[in-house]
Amino acid sequence: MSALPPPVIEMAGARKTYRSGQIEFEALSGIDLSVTEGEYVAIVGPSGSGKSTLMNILGCLDVLTSGSYRLGGEDVERLSEVALARVRNRQIGFVFQQFHLLPSLSALRNVELPMVYGRVEKTERRERAAAALERVGLSDRLNNRPGELSGGQQQRVAVARALAGDPTMILADEPTGNLDSASTDDVLGLFDELHAAGRTIVLITHEHDVARRARRMVTVRDGLIVSDGATQEAAA
Ligand SMILES: Nc1ncnc2c1ncn2[C@@H]1O[C@H](COP(=O)(O)OP(=O)(O)O)[C@@H](O)[C@H]1O
Ligand SMILES: [Mg+2]
Repeated sequence: MSALPPPVIEMAGARKTYRSGQIEFEALSGIDLSVTEGEYVAIVGPSGSGKSTLMNILGCLDVLTSGSYRLGGEDVERLSEVALARVRNRQIGFVFQQFHLLPSLSALRNVELPMVYGRVEKTERRERAAAALERVGLSDRLNNRPGELSGGQQQRVAVARALAGDPTMILADEPTGNLDSASTDDVLGLFDELHAAGRTIVLITHEHDVARRARRMVTVRDGLIVSDGATQEAAA
């Protein structure tokens, strides 16, 4: 018997119902999903299928109506708002479609910023930010502002910011949605490198061509998983 890598995500019977007045809408209708350490998983599905709802729950930005969710072995459904925020900061590195970089700050300061809120001491903060930017291939752009960088480079800065806290997983929501095809390749190439280095990556996208670059593809439709399996990349 070989030891399995520890589970990062363990979700069972996950349901999410939105209520507005008398009207209820079930956006997730019973999702079972596990992701183990080091996996590179894409969650794909058409608009309205429940991807953002799932992302918000995986990212501890929202909670389930019923079912269970464990992140890094912690039962997230039982946590208070404050504890949830702590888990979020410690375990998840977010990458968004809009890079969410502050235009007036250099790449280095942008990557440092979450660590300012995380009360990491200044010298360590700076070292970690510089190391993360080096990791994404931007060591020669530390002092550039976002406006001086290409879209692909800006998203690399955002990935560096996600990595700097050494999270349990990278959670990327449509990370290539604002990028041209060259920059899309650039960012997906970076994800390949991070995966090869053992990072756990969950990539949410409505684009099949982007999803198939992951090693495993989970397809969501109408709040349910309709397929889940290895991609061609996994065999390559
Ligand atoms: N806050 C909300 N209140 C009511 N319905 C919502 C809310 N957010 C999302 N929905 C509905 O839930 C479904 C799934 O939405 P979403 O998770 O955003 O899907 P996707 O990201 O795949 O486009 C959609 O039908 C959407 O209209
Ligand atoms: Mg969405």
